[in-house]
Amino acid sequence: MKILGSGHYVPKTIVSNDDLSKIVDTNDEWISSRTGISTRHISDGEGVSDIASKAAILAMEDANINATDIDMILLATMTPDSMLPNNASIIQKNIGAINATCFDLNAACSGFLFALNTANAYLSSGMCKNILVIGAETLSKIVDWSDRSSCVLFGDGAGAMVVTVDDTKAYYSVSGSDGSKGHVLTGGATLLKNMLVNKDETNIMTDDYYMHMDGQEVFKFAVTKVPECISAVLDKASLGADDIDYYILHQANVRIISSVAKRLGVSPDKLPVNLNKYGNTSAASIPILFDELRKNGTLKDAKRVVFSGFGGGLTWGASLVEL
Ligand code: COA
Repeated sequence: MKILGSGHYVPKTIVSNDDLSKIVDTNDEWISSRTGISTRHISDGEGVSDIASKAAILAMEDANINATDIDMILLATMTPDSMLPNNASIIQKNIGAINATCFDLNAACSGFLFALNTANAYLSSGMCKNILVIGAETLSKIVDWSDRSSCVLFGDGAGAMVVTVDDTKAYYSVSGSDGSKGHVLTGGATLLKNMLVNKDETNIMTDDYYMHMDGQEVFKFAVTKVPECISAVLDKASLGADDIDYYILHQANVRIISSVAKRLGVSPDKLPVNLNKYGNTSAASIPILFDELRKNGTLKDAKRVVFSGFGGGLTWGASLVEL
């Protein structure tokens, strides 16, 4: 599998730590020192399918490919605008990819990695040739804006890649899930409301509609699992940590990223960061960072990168890609 091109789009409105200190009891010093985040972009009306379509168009331009040559659109998101139609199909309509089969996939912040694995499987089987893989979120709609321990962490955004069949480029991946720990990161739950139950409820949103997180548990899980799955993918490829030019990690917390660099024994320069600008954009964070590095020339001479992420589910994964 080869990455032909990439693109990203974030909503225009920037919300700073100082802005958040006006709505919850927090401050810039706490947020910056504990997370590395300074600002995040928040949608003032655009939905996931809008921002994903914009990222997709930029990725197709970068890949120099026509929308009609895309035969699959995979959208990783946990904040779709609707369940029906699936949002990948809305994107298809927006960008004119009339020959694409379209579906959404949800693995929280690991979603983009799982979508990339899915794309690789479709390409390897010969079922598809050019796939648009997108990670996009409007997390602002499930964030509890009165909970200072979580609302400061997240942002909205979209990142996309066009991937194609290339037998000369190796792709290795490892992934996993642990449903028994699902309770440490929850959100988006709605009520079963039909003629048999909850007949009088006017609202289908439950207390668990908004995001709840046990931050310390997630932190411990991330600093263990991410280096573990990166080491596993390196073993699979028979490569050492120094053979990788860049580790493009899910952007959740700068302290998690520093800890991963230490555990892998590589220079922090190999683990670029942009979460200071965007916060945690969940499924979008890896493709947004990849696109920035590609467009600013950082990846010009790079031969191999590793993507790695973790998130609700719990879920995790690492993928080694040859550029
Ligand atoms: N502003 C100011 N104080 C805050 C705060 C905020 N936004 N959020 C929490 N606090 C307070 C807490 O109430 C607590 O106060 P107390 O000691 O008086 O009880 C104190 O800060 C320390 O809280 P704690 O939760 O121990 O902080 P922490 O060092 O663990 O950092 C996180 C919290 C959320 C930044 C950190 O646990 C984390 O990043 N976890 C991973 C989360 C993540 O990545 N989630 C997404 C996964 S995809």
